[in-house]
Amino acid sequence: MIVLGLESSCDEMAAAVLADRTVRSSVVRSQVDLHAAYGGIVPEIASRDHALHVGFVIEEALEKAKVTPSMLDGVAVTSGPGLIGSLLAGVEAAKGLAVAARKPLIGVHHLEGHIASALLENPAPEPPFVALIVSGGHTSIVLVPELGGPYEVIGQTRDDAAGEAFDKTAKSLGLGYPGGVEIDRLSQTGDPTAFGFPDVMPGRDNFAFSFSGLKTAALRLLERETLPLTGQRLADFCASFQDAVVENLLGKALRATRRSQTGRLIIVGGVAANQRLRERALEKAKGHQVQVYLPSRANCTDNAAMIACAGMVRLARGERSPVGLAARAHWPLQDLGRS
Ligand code: KG4
Ligand code: ZN
Repeated sequence: MIVLGLESSCDEMAAAVLADRTVRSSVVRSQVDLHAAYGGIVPEIASRDHALHVGFVIEEALEKAKVTPSMLDGVAVTSGPGLIGSLLAGVEAAKGLAVAARKPLIGVHHLEGHIASALLENPAPEPPFVALIVSGGHTSIVLVPELGGPYEVIGQTRDDAAGEAFDKTAKSLGLGYPGGVEIDRLSQTGDPTAFGFPDVMPGRDNFAFSFSGLKTAALRLLERETLPLTGQRLADFCASFQDAVVENLLGKALRATRRSQTGRLIIVGGVAANQRLRERALEKAKGHQVQVYLPSRANCTDNAAMIACAGMVRLARGERSPVGLAARAHWPLQDLGRS
């Protein structure tokens, strides 16, 4: 089965061609340079740039995969949740292509796409498993009975997402955007025990997160420092903050996995590219008798191969979206598989 995937829910325009579970091409056009000057994503700029480039990105993905539209078995596109203008650029292009080439169309939930990113690895986890989804917009622990749902949300953030906490704290430190990558890099020479961060939302049965709490703790600690932090002190602060986020995420995700009795945990989304998170996940999993699956770093951040993968599973089951497929800014993951 050959599927073209499109993803444009936020500030990346991506297209990929998947032939069964083999990624034939995966093109990602990042807008980091466009938004860096503003210290965050400007929705209007994002959607205009997506509309300008969607054709080129699709063309490049098809050419690299040596595939023409007539060879496709379907077109999969992220139809939500996300920035509405950004989503529309991908959804409308996907409709045009599907109608013109007379191919089935399938709308994909962005978070189901992130879950599917784990299935692109070898070995792929067998469902059921638990997914820790950590991105710029979402932080959830989800029980996945099979791809397609219904998904049971075991815990989620009450406020900011983990990636958002990285980005906002990086901004307070005067670091560039996106901050997660910068904090990851600077932490490598830092001491994670140099600054004390609180254990947010503690308790064995508490699977909720609050990253706004950690962000505020970071601001309180910075009030006692001479700013801007530089050199070793900056590296120590980054490493301590990163460690607090990582231990919080993993403690809850591993406990939820043990309780689920699935024995398998996938960690997906942009923050899953974090080096410390990846190392600690593998270390800590041994003590919990849990098998951890981490997609390659390129498949953690937004990409279209994961969307093609989730779409392929649904298309193979005979599911189709109407040609009037609507983009949805808000779309709870819990709604999937229940209609
Ligand atoms: O999944 P993603 O690409 O887009 C969303 O769906 O939100 O995630 C983007 C988030 C950003 O907040 C970014 O700072 C964070 O993932 N991120 C990282 C790293 N790489 C990306 N956070 C920590 N360490 C990283 N290496
Ligand atoms: Zn994402």
